[in-house]
Amino acid sequence: MNPTIELMNARCSTRAYDPTPLTEEEKRAILETTMRAPTAGNLMLYSIIEIEDQALKDKLAVTCDDQPFIARAPLVLVFVADYQKWIDLFAVSVVDELPGVAQRPTPGVGDLLLACSDALIAAQNAVIAAESLGIGSCYIGDILEQAETHAELLGLPNHTLPIAMLCFGRPATAKHITPRYTKHVVHKNAYRRLGDEELRAVAADLHPRDVYRRKFAADFTLEMNRSVERWIERWQTPET
Ligand SMILES: Cc1cc2nc3c(=O)[nH]c(=O)nc-3n(C[C@H](O)[C@H](O)[C@H](O)COP(=O)(O)O)c2cc1C
Repeated sequence: MNPTIELMNARCSTRAYDPTPLTEEEKRAILETTMRAPTAGNLMLYSIIEIEDQALKDKLAVTCDDQPFIARAPLVLVFVADYQKWIDLFAVSVVDELPGVAQRPTPGVGDLLLACSDALIAAQNAVIAAESLGIGSCYIGDILEQAETHAELLGLPNHTLPIAMLCFGRPATAKHITPRYTKHVVHKNAYRRLGDEELRAVAADLHPRDVYRRKFAADFTLEMNRSVERWIERWQTPET
């Protein structure tokens, strides 16, 4: 194929890190490439928080569902869906003095989804840029949990939401490529629900009962769903 496709197919999540810090040049290359990601309307509806403080990394390792490797990652970035910066820009640009604009806009759920898309697409650029430098990474979805704690720890204003955290570091262990179940993922022209026979064949491979217990009904999932309702409520609440 070509080196980019080979690199992307050889990527795997990295959870054990060599403690050597990333060089400033490596960090700059990752962040600059991150910000070249496609972004809706070129609005860059996201911000990135680098967690430099070891005490804060230690806390996040606990609050993100007790994952100690977070504290050992040489680079930790939180990707924040961010409409707040635009609201603040509108405020200094006195947008509410424009004809027909009665008040500062409050972002809706559509804006939230767009901002999350922006933030996640940027995050994946960071993953691939790092990978190309021999630096592994792992997403931490549990940053969505504990809305009250994470909002306070990271100083997040209302019109923001931390959609993902990424840990980076040079891999300390050999790569393990996780297989994917790729049947029936691609549909043509319209969505097609699987028939019973097909579903039974998929179930034989994917063991949905185990997955349900380990993931869908797990405590962390229940906490995430509670927390995301709180994030959505905050997102839509004008700041006083
Ligand atoms: C949105 C998202 C959230 C994730 N959250 C976690 C996490 O909290 N902890 C973790 O160890 N891995 C996490 N992962 C990594 C997945 O477990 C991993 O991508 C998946 O098992 C496939 O393995 P691979 O990345 O090595 O191919 C997350 C991945 C994504 C995309």
